[in-house]
Amino acid sequence: MNIMITGNMGYVGPAVVSHIRQQLDDCTIIGVDTGLFGHCLTEPCLPEHLVDVQIFSDVRDLTPDLFSGIDAVIHLAAISNDPMGVRFEKVTDEINHRATLRTAELAAESGVGRFVFASSCSMYGYAEAGARRETDPLNPLTAYARSKVAAEAGLRDISTRTNMIITALRFSTACGFSGRMRLDLVLNDFVASALSTGRVSVLSDGSPWRPLIHVRDMARAIEWALQRAEHDGFLAINVGCEEWNYQVRELAEAVKAAMPGVDVDINANAPPDKRSYRVNFDLFRSLAPDHQPRMTLPAAVADIHDGLMVSGFKDANYRSSDLVRLNVLTRGIESGLLDDDVRWLDRRSVLPRDQLSLPLRREA
Ligand SMILES: NC(=O)c1ccc[n+]([C@@H]2O[C@H](COP(=O)([O-])OP(=O)(O)OC[C@H]3O[C@@H](n4cnc5c(N)ncnc54)[C@H](O)[C@@H]3O)[C@@H](O)[C@H]2O)c1
Repeated sequence: MNIMITGNMGYVGPAVVSHIRQQLDDCTIIGVDTGLFGHCLTEPCLPEHLVDVQIFSDVRDLTPDLFSGIDAVIHLAAISNDPMGVRFEKVTDEINHRATLRTAELAAESGVGRFVFASSCSMYGYAEAGARRETDPLNPLTAYARSKVAAEAGLRDISTRTNMIITALRFSTACGFSGRMRLDLVLNDFVASALSTGRVSVLSDGSPWRPLIHVRDMARAIEWALQRAEHDGFLAINVGCEEWNYQVRELAEAVKAAMPGVDVDINANAPPDKRSYRVNFDLFRSLAPDHQPRMTLPAAVADIHDGLMVSGFKDANYRSSDLVRLNVLTRGIESGLLDDDVRWLDRRSVLPRDQLSLPLRREA
């Protein structure tokens, strides 16, 4: 099986590549990424050593030839959170919505059988009336969430015109250690704060609901989507599990419980957080019983803690560091490496693509 994974050089990508490599040993993995965070490594080993070919390309520029012989596409490439969506609203739509649909069209035209889209539960936005099901109304409050809603609508339409089986996995907020670690995610941030300052400062009053999922459990869901039964050409599905619907204050308390001596500050006077939702995962449980999340919250906290320790992390000023994605893009623009459309301006952007494809030999 030949699998293209876009956005493989991000936070979630390394876990996905590693899992697919373990589970589908005879597959060929082709990574496609523009490398915005290529230098943001938190492990000595380059995660790309597990792909067969790494193509450095912008997903806005993909050409039909790239899809020749590809059986499945796992589409992770995106401007992947709300703060970046605020700063890069137009680009977020271009990449997350328009380039996603173009990628899917090219894939379908080339006879790709499966398309797995990394969608997001953030499209539920603010929801007071119980856990959100896939059929409930959406309430996207940010450019990022709107881009995922628009992409899903377009993918649904593509599935009616083609034979490609499309799965939009509406992921909960990710957590866990990665070879390209991010500290702009709530649980990762709390553990980093506890490690570097001895405190967890909750910016809200701690009441918002936020479903979470570990990156390795995201990878297991993607494996399921590559093989799911074919009765629906298009399926949008919440990915996570009931037990991982946490309030933010519970996440802070879990970090405190795992790291004795850590204090938790709750901002009781904070204005209500606009984003709060619980999510119903019944559909995922019934369709994917063998690919349910396995990680527990204490195990996730330990994973983040241990990974950060081994990486030598101790920067109390990490919110200004390259471990926060918006900082990386902003600095890339300020230093003249990226333009305002988040495209490379340095010489890599003008080299022909075949000079940018890096065949990688895997160890036997
Ligand atoms: N992290 C989460 O909490 C979470 C939750 C739900 C869904 N998702 C989705 O999962 C996917 C992966 O998330 P992540 O956390 O790894 O994001 P990330 O920002 O860490 O990585 C995204 C990758 O996409 C690449 N990319 C961005 N724009 C590109 C472009 N124009 N062309 C080619 N490559 C491009 C980047 O270089 C990066 O390597 C995203 O689609 C995201 O929206 C993430």
